[in-house]
Amino acid sequence: MDSHSKTEEAGFTPASRIAAIGVSKILQIGARASAMKKDGLPVIILGAGEPDFDTPDNVKEAAKAAIDRGETKYTALDGTPDLKKAIAEKFRRENNVDYALDEITVATGAKQILFNAFMATIDPCDEVIIPTPYWTSYSDIVEICGGVPVLIPCDAEAGFRLKADQLEKAITPKTRWVLLNSPSNPSGAAYSEADYRPLIDVLLRHPHVWLMVDDMYEHIVYDGFQFVTPVAIEPRLKSRTLTINGVSKAYAMTGWRIGYAGGPKALIKAMAVIQSQATSCPSSVSQAASVEALNGPQDFLKDRQASFKHRRDLVVSALNAIPGLTCRTPEGAFYTFSGCAGVIGKVTPRGKRIEADSDFTDYLLEDAHVAVVPGSAFGLSPFFRISYATSEAELTEALKRIADACAKLA
Ligand SMILES: Cc1ncc(COP(=O)(O)O)c(C=O)c1O
Repeated sequence: MDSHSKTEEAGFTPASRIAAIGVSKILQIGARASAMKKDGLPVIILGAGEPDFDTPDNVKEAAKAAIDRGETKYTALDGTPDLKKAIAEKFRRENNVDYALDEITVATGAKQILFNAFMATIDPCDEVIIPTPYWTSYSDIVEICGGVPVLIPCDAEAGFRLKADQLEKAITPKTRWVLLNSPSNPSGAAYSEADYRPLIDVLLRHPHVWLMVDDMYEHIVYDGFQFVTPVAIEPRLKSRTLTINGVSKAYAMTGWRIGYAGGPKALIKAMAVIQSQATSCPSSVSQAASVEALNGPQDFLKDRQASFKHRRDLVVSALNAIPGLTCRTPEGAFYTFSGCAGVIGKVTPRGKRIEADSDFTDYLLEDAHVAVVPGSAFGLSPFFRISYATSEAELTEALKRIADACAKLA
């Protein structure tokens, strides 16, 4: 049961803007797996969207110092000058892009950045092109804002990446945004400069279309992959691009809730209007912590990257050794998105036929006590997502259980 049916049971009718939107499948699976664990079942949860590392000590100390200095009050609406300066410097240092302070906004997580941006720009029926598989929040936020998500399937053979001809075909006079995410949640696929270039060329031919890029997993890339953000490739796009990033994943700061973006001044101003009536400002203490995250030592990022890479390799090779499953090697993030076409049509030991990826992930949860998320939750089937941001011991055990469960299918 999702929260929507629960509210209807209580005699409550939600607003039509959320009528078609249920609680995220990822959260539902997580809640179910946690409940099973509480009941004493040995469930391994591979659903987490956050690093298993701790926030660095220098960042925690900066937060404590901010509290001691009395920085516990409302701040400037869309970010303190100190944090905006640190973000401008980050964009220059790491992305080779210049954003002035009034072209930068800070919010309560990148999720609020997305929300502010869509709320500030989407009129009824405006279209947002979203390559799939996609992070579930994208389409839900667009719908809440009255827009129409235009979902373009990008399969494993295409490296889960949008191609120029697909983009060209999807653009209509109603297209407001194209939303690209590299490296991607859930596929881990990333766009190189060569992957981006043909898409940029299409966008240059359609000046009414704006580009939103979600670079949240920028620091989690492997095998020498060269991360690049579109505005650095094509400065002519800067006047209609919102470049989103945040401290959640790189600095293991998901609970601090700070996300940020660089974009044209008029858009940044419009987003501030939304934020002013939603949260007034991001947390003062978290902003001080984020200044230290961005300005402080960065060398630990390489060690964390190496640790994720080790786990990625372990998971990809174990999955590819299981008959019926296939797994593309992702360039980044901490997810694998594996094909499970080979188990569709098979029957579980309890006699249930696997018709869809969600039947397979239900089977893994119920019989193997491993929680993963079906591709259907991300708009592309038949696949399932594993988050490998967990201990190697748990991953090894979970993959053994998945292999055993697949072997038992008839
Ligand atoms: C692709 C992507 N973008 C943005 C976010 C949101 O991050 P934040 O914690 O800054 O809201 C997530 C979180 O899972 C994500 O996967």
